[in-house]
Amino acid sequence: ATNRTFTMIKPDAVENGHIGAILEKITAAGFRIVALKLTQMTVADAQEFYAVHSERPFFGELVEFMSRGPIVAAILEKENAVEDFRTLIGATNPADAAEGTIRKLYATSVGENAVHGSDSDENAAIEGVFHFSGREMF
Ligand code: CMP
Repeated sequence: ATNRTFTMIKPDAVENGHIGAILEKITAAGFRIVALKLTQMTVADAQEFYAVHSERPFFGELVEFMSRGPIVAAILEKENAVEDFRTLIGATNPADAAEGTIRKLYATSVGENAVHGSDSDENAAIEGVFHFSGREMF
């Protein structure tokens, strides 16, 4: 079925000038952009967004990284969006990511891994409304 996923182009990829190349990969793979903006998370936003990881040893590093500069937030629509987007971005650690995936091409490390992709339809909906109002979704 056609459904939606949520993504962020993370601060590392924005800093390194990869916004255009990553959006091109996403649209070339057949995803339709239904929401899109440049924004920045505060420390409190990042703590809330990543609350599921709050007990992990890398939580502080993750929050500091994700709030250090602008991100591109987007909602994407496609047949089988959540699973197909995770295939397009590749493994969390770019060292393990398949050739041609966004993380293989643009990520620098397991922490600074260029892009986010929702892990379920339910989380995609939660993450989308975290960043976008109804007027910003099409
Ligand atoms: P993502 O899967 O989008 O969401 C959780 C994030 O935590 C992950 O991307 C990485 O940015 C980060 N992360 C996961 N594992 C580690 C790790 N071992 N060290 C630092 N950051 C990590």
